Amino acid sequence: MNEYIRECGLSGNIPRHVAIIMDGNGRWATKRGLPRSVGHRAGMEALRDLITASSELGIEALTLYAFSTENWKRPRDEVGTLFSLVVEYFNREISELHEKGVRIRVLGDMSRVPQKARAALMRAEDMTHDNRGLKLNLAINYGARAELVRAARALAEDVSNGGMAPDAIDEAAVSSRLYTSGQPDVDLLIRTGGEMRLSNFLLYQSAYAELLFTDTLFPDFDKAHYLDAIREFQGRSRRFGAIK
Ligand code: IPE
Ligand code: IPE
Ligand code: MG
Repeated sequence: MNEYIRECGLSGNIPRHVAIIMDGNGRWATKRGLPRSVGHRAGMEALRDLITASSELGIEALTLYAFSTENWKRPRDEVGTLFSLVVEYFNREISELHEKGVRIRVLGDMSRVPQKARAALMRAEDMTHDNRGLKLNLAINYGARAELVRAARALAEDVSNGGMAPDAIDEAAVSSRLYTSGQPDVDLLIRTGGEMRLSNFLLYQSAYAELLFTDTLFPDFDKAHYLDAIREFQGRSRRFGAIK
């Protein structure tokens, strides 16, 4: 257990994989009489401390839901704002993330992502590819159903190429065809913004995740809230179907 964990008042039972549905940016802005884009920017500013804390706590993977396959239904200019924030974020933060040893992976179908954002994301992935620190997954144009469809197709191709027998398809084979391949399942899933639903996020990987819903809007979700969430996780009794 590292010193930082102790300083934070946590036990050594640190979740290996934390996933966050970063919701409530729009309402945060509307409450202040500001345009929703200001809320998205405020959300982006909230990220830094959460990433730093995750790194220092020795969390293995942090997955952030940034744009869902359903978010295309939003007005064009809001979608545009979200992707330009992605570009801005990486231009500004990539060197520091790289220095911290963060490894970036994008979860989602990049083919529909606007070119500039796609380039920034691919550059971030390439640059940090060999890093050994926190695995930072950004779910962008991500939907869990689309991810499972993609995995099913990959398996079907392996079978039809003769490389795999149908009865060799097991949970590990499915897992290894998800975007999160090679990473542990989600231990703690946090949703800010007060809604109690998963909105098509990590359905397979969160099968046994501890769920934590908070009314705090994402731009207000700071390090103290994050540590509280981890503390709550540490107080849960995880039985995985067995008897304690
Ligand atoms: C951010 O929160 C989530 C994204 C899709 C980027 P919202 O934009 O959904 O904020 P609310 O839920 O409308 O407040
Ligand atoms: C979920 O939030 C997606 C992200 C946080 C990126 P939404 O605001 O899009 O979800 P719904 O519409 O409330 O389900
Ligand atoms: Mg929302």
